[in-house]
Amino acid sequence: MDVTIFGSGYVGLVTGACLAEVGNQVLCVDVDVDKIALLNSGGVPIYEPGLDDLIAKNKQAGRLRFSTDPEEGVAHGLFQFIAVGTPPDEDGSADLRHVLAVAAAIGEHMTSYRVIVDKSTVPVGTADRVAETVRLAQHERGHAVEFDVVSNPEFLKEGAAIDDFMRPDRIIVGTDNPRTGELLRALYAPFNRNHDRVMVMGVRSAELTKYAANAMLATKISFMNELSNIAEAVGADIEMVRVGIGSDPRIGYQFIYPGCGYGGSCFPKDVRALERTARSKGYQADLLQAVEAVNDRQKNLLFSKIEQYFQGNLKGKTLALWGLAFKPNTDDMREASSRRLMEQLWAAGARVRAFDPVAAEEARRLYGDRADLELVENRMAAVEGADALVIVTEWNEFRSPDLSAVQAQLRSPVIFDGRNLFDPAQVNGAGLTYVSVGRVPAC
Ligand code: UGA
Repeated sequence: MDVTIFGSGYVGLVTGACLAEVGNQVLCVDVDVDKIALLNSGGVPIYEPGLDDLIAKNKQAGRLRFSTDPEEGVAHGLFQFIAVGTPPDEDGSADLRHVLAVAAAIGEHMTSYRVIVDKSTVPVGTADRVAETVRLAQHERGHAVEFDVVSNPEFLKEGAAIDDFMRPDRIIVGTDNPRTGELLRALYAPFNRNHDRVMVMGVRSAELTKYAANAMLATKISFMNELSNIAEAVGADIEMVRVGIGSDPRIGYQFIYPGCGYGGSCFPKDVRALERTARSKGYQADLLQAVEAVNDRQKNLLFSKIEQYFQGNLKGKTLALWGLAFKPNTDDMREASSRRLMEQLWAAGARVRAFDPVAAEEARRLYGDRADLELVENRMAAVEGADALVIVTEWNEFRSPDLSAVQAQLRSPVIFDGRNLFDPAQVNGAGLTYVSVGRVPAC
């Protein structure tokens, strides 16, 4: 089948490469000339394990192409995927400018039936706005052609996106036209493992499903973070509590890891956007507000623990940071807890010496050259002569360091761990104070 994908960002590239991999002819279109030039010359603008090989293989096979020309894009695919960004507005609602610009281009150029697929995370009601925009563009051109708008939200996790796309647990298709539902079923048939993964529902239900999933996951995390603060206050160990409650299959072990707050481009943005949507309909979403507020507070946790330990005297201190990305296996630092922490440390007059396996370049792009940020090549270079070590991202390579070597390097032998990577007894055994999340600090 012929597929066009507008937007060669994270979602667009993964969708394009995976649809090409199962035999479709895919054309990816983006307004960013440099990005398309990079893709055409064999580069990949984002870091995602396996994506570069998949793109190279399918380009080579002639199934995946890149262009900046929207007209070519509209002419190519029966399916027109919209996978452009929806950055948050100042008030937290999703900004639909790019989505509607693509809709207008499709309306302007289409000459035969098209299925327009909303893949970006968009507020409930967006499919209707896309349809209106297409109609308006057609009207301006004076030439109406039949089309359908489908909501098909994506559920990819950064760092595991290829596997999530190739082996989905569900494929949500929102359409009010059964015939279009069948077309999407056919497109996604190669991704059904063991049983049909496609769930067809109304457009608005599909749009809400995406927000509901992310809001539920964010709620689990904020709930655990709240509980970790209570555990600390009452002298309990949140890691024991986590194991204890996760054994109940109704709760489950996933997404109940306490830490220094969730980040990324999805949870913070989507929780806020859903709350705004509810408010715009006259409903006050108290729970969503609390999920966001707890997370915001949790992002201050590491700084308060560090400040408390050094009795407010951080001026001139050097803090070694392990991990900058908002989670492992990505270089993405959007809303990362590391950013809040570094900004607080700098404001207090401290210096940061950071190591992240892939996000250093992104940190350089965000913060430029500044005297109080040093980006180093490996984890031990970060701790050399530093005052203390802070762990912000749970990269696997941080899980079993030589703690005695760390102890020998630090001026104050203390680890602040925002991800509870270690057994406290083991850290203490190496002569280090261990300050983690939701566990009573032992010396
Ligand atoms: C999230 C969802 O997990 C995907 O299903 C969804 O498709 C995606 O958003 C999206 O909307 O595009 P992602 O943002 O890549 O995926 O990251 P997650 O793996 O969900 O992690 C989000 C944050 O939660 C990270 O900062 C992570 O450290 C934190 N987290 C996660 C915890 O603090 N505790 C946990 O138990 C799990």
